[in-house]
Amino acid sequence: MDRQMKHDAARPTRREFMRTAAAGTAMASFGILRSTHAQGTDVLKVGLIGCGGRGTGAAREALLADPNTALVAVGDVFRDMVESSLNRLKTDPKIAPRITVDAAHQFAGFDAYQGVIDSCDVIVHATPPGFRPQHLRACVEAGKHVFVEKPVAVDAPGVRSVMESCRMAKEKGLNLVSGLCYRYEFAKRETIKRLQDGAIGDIITLQTTYNTGGLWHKGRGDDWTEMEYQLRNWLYFDWLSGDHINEQHIHSLDKIMWLMGDVPPAKCTSSGGRAQRTDPKYGNIYDHFNGVYEWESGVRCFNSCRQWESTSTDVSDWVFGTKGVANIQEHYIRTYDGQEWRHERKGEDNMYQNEHNELFAAIRKGEVIVDEYMCSSTLMAILGRTSAYTGKTLTWEQMLNSELDLTPPKIAWGDVPMNPIPVPGVTPFI
Ligand SMILES: NC(=O)c1ccc[n+]([C@@H]2O[C@H](COP(=O)([O-])OP(=O)(O)OC[C@H]3O[C@@H](n4cnc5c(N)ncnc54)[C@H](O)[C@@H]3O)[C@@H](O)[C@H]2O)c1
Repeated sequence: MDRQMKHDAARPTRREFMRTAAAGTAMASFGILRSTHAQGTDVLKVGLIGCGGRGTGAAREALLADPNTALVAVGDVFRDMVESSLNRLKTDPKIAPRITVDAAHQFAGFDAYQGVIDSCDVIVHATPPGFRPQHLRACVEAGKHVFVEKPVAVDAPGVRSVMESCRMAKEKGLNLVSGLCYRYEFAKRETIKRLQDGAIGDIITLQTTYNTGGLWHKGRGDDWTEMEYQLRNWLYFDWLSGDHINEQHIHSLDKIMWLMGDVPPAKCTSSGGRAQRTDPKYGNIYDHFNGVYEWESGVRCFNSCRQWESTSTDVSDWVFGTKGVANIQEHYIRTYDGQEWRHERKGEDNMYQNEHNELFAAIRKGEVIVDEYMCSSTLMAILGRTSAYTGKTLTWEQMLNSELDLTPPKIAWGDVPMNPIPVPGVTPFI
């Protein structure tokens, strides 16, 4: 991975960031730009980078989205992941005939992404987020449309790099559709629209929660180097996942950003730690965070996320307004005078499929979707994490301009150092 690449990106101010976010939304809604690539009815060659659970699912959804597609190349750091992904995909009769990946297009290793990019029109990108900025830049430079999983980075230099990639994609007429999937769920779109149209009056306070159990751990193979161990267990290492506030709770924070019109909060004060996952096998990330984000308007969002076994779970987003309350996750609105609204499901609404349907429809029509909000939602998560790690109240501007690059000095098989477990009041803000 090229550290310098992450630092070469331009420095946007918060004001510019807000302008960019607003422009990105308009672009997505109205398809102002025209894509110059792979329109009409040509077969679109799809490639998968990162052949794990989500990547395999997303590759299937890409093929289901458009009948004139073929999966022609796949890449992963690990050869066994390439093979298991292909085997799983081939079990689905709806797509099996369009999986045409020959041996020469099954790439493994750290430069596997480049082989996939060179062979395809549309890339499905689902590696751990630590590699996203570099790979995404390579996709855009090569003129490819991308479905890009969340989050888009693990640190501010990475977010700045992806903002630059979004700018380049718009210039080139390339689609970058984000895996922040709730924005593609019709029920959530209707709920957010009603709230933005004033269903509960002015928004005063928000509360978003992602309290869940623990996630998988793959242990340590006898012959694994430290790099292999960290890659196989990427969730637990800051340089790969950005911590679970970034990797998982980003969905909650993204719903809040969406409701707030993608206007970033002015500042954040957050806390966190390791209460249950104290074993060294859990790398250097925390297992819980609690914080408050504050907007210039005075709106505050209280957030909580934790990954604790055998405890109560809750995934919800409560919105308190002058005239009522709502839960975005449940598509539910209630006014203080007793009126209730619940979204009524009409037909298919699979958000994972919807995002690919809209990506391929845009490519076919020559329209361009660039989901730039993926940058601000990722930075919001990184802001909450960094405030907790340092114990400091941090502004959006401070976070946006942070120089902390979590990428290890060298990406190669063998040893790789682990960043220390952060200690509030001791860990500096960089
Ligand atoms: N939108 C959603 O709801 C959702 C759900 C699950 C996961 N995700 C996201 O998708 C991404 C992947 O998650 P997952 O659950 O599939 O994890 P996973 O571990 O199952 O898959 C990740 C794959 O990427 C591979 N990989 C690692 N480094 C690579 C590199 N440099 N080049 C190529 N391949 C590399 C790994 O070997 C692995 O096969 C994450 O960013 C995650 O946050 C999104």
